[in-house]
Amino acid sequence: MTRFACLGWLAAATAGVLAGAAFAQPLRPPEPHRQTERQVLENPVPATADSVATGRQWYVFMCRECHGNTGLGDGDMAHAGGDIPDFTDDVWLHGSRDGDLFRVIKEGVTADMQPYADRLDDEDIWHVVNYLRTLADRR
Ligand code: HEC
Repeated sequence: MTRFACLGWLAAATAGVLAGAAFAQPLRPPEPHRQTERQVLENPVPATADSVATGRQWYVFMCRECHGNTGLGDGDMAHAGGDIPDFTDDVWLHGSRDGDLFRVIKEGVTADMQPYADRLDDEDIWHVVNYLRTLADRR
């Protein structure tokens, strides 16, 4: 065996040992799995009368045309496409927590339910969420 070939064998053996060590690792790291993207957002805005009133103003201005005066999904634009959900039942297609509603409004979900990130700042979106919560009570 030449010296060169011998070194090659050593390198291959070392690589094999390292690969073996890598396979011996557990498949998942022991730390809890983090889902930063889907982390639950807490509503930082208390649902005061002022907050609900501000939310209502935005709703009338931007949402009522589809979602309807009382949130039944019967606004003038409701026929334009998409199935408009009823805000007064307790069915939430995209999650029922305040943070879920916030995300739907901010990021949008369909061509009809568009993102409002560039039209409403975060605080205003929370005001709207607080307003939406009152619709179910007025049924
Ligand atoms: C052009 C019509 C239209 C407008 C305007 C509109 N939406 Fe929607 N919205 C929809 C449709 C359609 C859906 C159902 C989307 C789907 O298929 O999941 C929806 C879904 C939602 C949902 C999720 C309901 C659920 O069951 O999870 C929320 C919350 C919501 N809209 C809030 C708003 C708010 C707040 C505004 C105003 C800032 C707004 N929408 C404006 C059409 C509209």
